[in-house]
Amino acid sequence: MTDLTALSEEVRALARQRDAIVLAHNYQRQEVQDVADFVGDSLGLSREAAATSAAVIVFAGVHFMAETAKILSPDKHVLLPEPRAGCPMADMITAEQARSFKGEHPGLPLVTYVNSSAEVKAESDVCCTSANAVEVVRSLGVTRVLFAPDRNLGAWVASQLPDVEIITWDGFCPTHERVTAEQVRSAVQAHPGAMVVAHPECRPEVVALADAVLSTSGMIRYVASSAAEEFIVITESGLLHGLAKAAPGKKFFGLTPPMVCPNMKLTTLEKVRDCLRDGTGEVTVPASTRARALAAVERMVALG
Ligand code: 13P
Ligand code: SF4
Repeated sequence: MTDLTALSEEVRALARQRDAIVLAHNYQRQEVQDVADFVGDSLGLSREAAATSAAVIVFAGVHFMAETAKILSPDKHVLLPEPRAGCPMADMITAEQARSFKGEHPGLPLVTYVNSSAEVKAESDVCCTSANAVEVVRSLGVTRVLFAPDRNLGAWVASQLPDVEIITWDGFCPTHERVTAEQVRSAVQAHPGAMVVAHPECRPEVVALADAVLSTSGMIRYVASSAAEEFIVITESGLLHGLAKAAPGKKFFGLTPPMVCPNMKLTTLEKVRDCLRDGTGEVTVPASTRARALAAVERMVALG
């Protein structure tokens, strides 16, 4: 038995003993994805966290994801195997800044991307993920909205809903923001005929070159059902593992240099084992914050 197999079996055995479910985001290391009960995008993971009957949720992802799970399932122990795994985009707006943003635009609803802190969610009318952002904004039935923190996702929603004015906060994901249109053009030149799939956290000029703009799990479903055989994938490199599993005969090309979210890669299989064994890394959300954030998060989970 290899060390990896032994460690994976240890994780599975501990999960059974502790009545725990292991949730992993699509960007996690391969071995962490492979040991999980469920691998998905932010929306799918939130739904799993809300629905599980397990006593413990081990969240192999970043802090805002574990916090969202705690908001939805306050009676569960939610453990983040690597407490330093944050999301720089989520840190680009504070609750105070969210309040000022609303104060500058009185009466407008605030739509907040799930990549945000619980405190910011508590200031929001509704949350969304990359999978349902367009639908969430459309569901409000208004002509002007505030959108935070991702300016690129906000621009993508605006392009899909030309009748809605979207006033965006100036946040971004460093990993997706780094991609240039030039890089995408070179990839297309190297792989002519490949379909281009991109995450809406990319800049508008990159998104404009894509055949499909989707959440991470949206990309998995898309490549599995598409007639095409080759895809250029413009999102964090961890997704290549899920894509290859979902469509084993097809070819996937990442960008050069590869897109890596350092925070997503902080979680290792050892850390998943340690937190299951020791019960460490518990994520909490103050009751008053949770109460104010819950409606916005529940509405997100229900849509799309
Ligand atoms: P998804 O919800 O599409 O998986 O995206 C999460 C994320 O953090 C993308 O950078
Ligand atoms: Fe945050 Fe970007 Fe990492 Fe996603 S890929 S967790 S948005 S830093």
